[in-house]
Amino acid sequence: MSAAHDKATEGLLPSSTEPTTRLSGCPVASENISITSGAQGANVLDDFQLIEKLAHFDRERIPERVVHAKGSGAFGELHITEDVSQYTRAALFQPGTVTPMLARFSTVAGEQGSPDHWRDVRGFALKFYTTEGNYDIVGNNTPVFFIRDGIKFPDFIHSQKRHPGTGLRSAEMQWDFWTRTPESAHQVTYLMGDRGRPRDFRHMDGFGSHTYQWQNADGDVFWVKYHFKTQQGWDYITDDEADTLTDTDHARADLYDAIDRGDYPRWDVKVQIMPVAEAEGYRWNPFDLTKTWSQKDYPLIPVGYFELNVNPRNFFAQIEQAAFSPSNLVPGIGFSPDRMLQARGFSYPDTQRYRLGANFEQIPVNRPTCPVHSYAQDGASTHFFNDSDQPVYSPNGSPRPAGYLDDGVTSSSGASYGPATDLYVNPSPHGEDLVRAAYVQHPEDDDFIQPGILVREVLDDAARERLAGNINAAMEGVSEELAQRVFTYWTNVDPDLGARVRELWES
Ligand code: HEM
Repeated sequence: MSAAHDKATEGLLPSSTEPTTRLSGCPVASENISITSGAQGANVLDDFQLIEKLAHFDRERIPERVVHAKGSGAFGELHITEDVSQYTRAALFQPGTVTPMLARFSTVAGEQGSPDHWRDVRGFALKFYTTEGNYDIVGNNTPVFFIRDGIKFPDFIHSQKRHPGTGLRSAEMQWDFWTRTPESAHQVTYLMGDRGRPRDFRHMDGFGSHTYQWQNADGDVFWVKYHFKTQQGWDYITDDEADTLTDTDHARADLYDAIDRGDYPRWDVKVQIMPVAEAEGYRWNPFDLTKTWSQKDYPLIPVGYFELNVNPRNFFAQIEQAAFSPSNLVPGIGFSPDRMLQARGFSYPDTQRYRLGANFEQIPVNRPTCPVHSYAQDGASTHFFNDSDQPVYSPNGSPRPAGYLDDGVTSSSGASYGPATDLYVNPSPHGEDLVRAAYVQHPEDDDFIQPGILVREVLDDAARERLAGNINAAMEGVSEELAQRVFTYWTNVDPDLGARVRELWES
């Protein structure tokens, strides 16, 4: 079986020929007749199956996505046929690599039951289950967007969705927003043209839209834009044809049926690459999401293709619960100074914590296929957990380390790690590089000076003695090795206090 098939069946229960049980596993007497107090009496509180059945049903719906609510998806594989290792060290883009993936296509403004053929941008979201973690490209079927600053996104979406009073979509609001937002013109041109009504999900191209950063094994960095070219041929429907469509789920049905009959859709994966040094002088701001890069300046470079070949087994579990986010990055791929992209990096996991719960990454469709090592714990629906001998905080002295830059032993609070090259490198003279730097230190800043003053100049002898006694009491049960570190800690605060703590411990 393929890797895509493995991912598509994660969490799948075996087919059953057994009688029903409660969710707790015990056999259920009847699915059909509830318990009443006499044949014509009231239902009873201890008909646990009736109550469980209704209570679970009452909770079947979760919030739909605030945008892109109507969509469809399928599993598949990304195949890398070319060598782009000179631009990125990301494992999924190395020659010959095959990576299982999930794609979800959507309309933007409509609700879950809305027609697939509405004139709208189409979402084009890809999740790659790579050996280095999940990598998501959450794009559209257009290379640009309506706005260039994430702070405008709620306003933009409010103007495109339903009017709060009438509950109807409003051309007045839509055009009012667009005409007051001139940077929307490029995207509205696409929207009002053929691309605003693609024939279905298979016959449309996709774009990463934003500028991202690729980094190769030598640390050289490049700006990159993704293009996904449909091998099915590009096609659209006219407004007149759309008016005749009675099947409001036609794009969903088309994708499902094609995969079901073995007619697996494919998209070529291509990139535009801009050397970082050229960004500053380029005729358009290369990070502005309302602009494209001319393909004459930066031609498309082939990378490979992806094929969708496994339908979801359960729409809710695998498509409705799918959580894509531009913040899901892997080594060798980073962000850019695009403000839209940066706002999105916050918004997606935030809405997913609300929509799916704090542990949404433990849901099978969102689980990475590579191991996860995290100090995160607890929260609703915790399915996976560390064993009790594992440390639950960092820094700690166990063999379990922290981040790959950390020393794993201390909080590293005085250290500077330099530029945050894992996020992106931006050598533009107009932009500050992102850094992981030490907290700015003033001449007298030192972790022990102020507690030392507190001990020597504020406390009197009796208070100092109580402090030493309290420390000694709080140390009960610590190991001898740790006790030595505690003495050093207090000696750094005040040598006399350190000596007194040791004296009490040893007495
Ligand atoms: C700052 C601007 C933006 C914000 C704050 C934003 C926010 C959101 C949110 C909250 C969701 C719902 C996610 C979920 O519930 O799982 C969503 C979905 C989506 N957005 Fe955006 N968005 C922005 C811009 C964009 C842009 C520029 C694109 C494409 C280039 C895009 C493409 C998508 C797609 C494809 C989905 C659906 C993902 C799926 O299939 O689950 N969004 N967006």
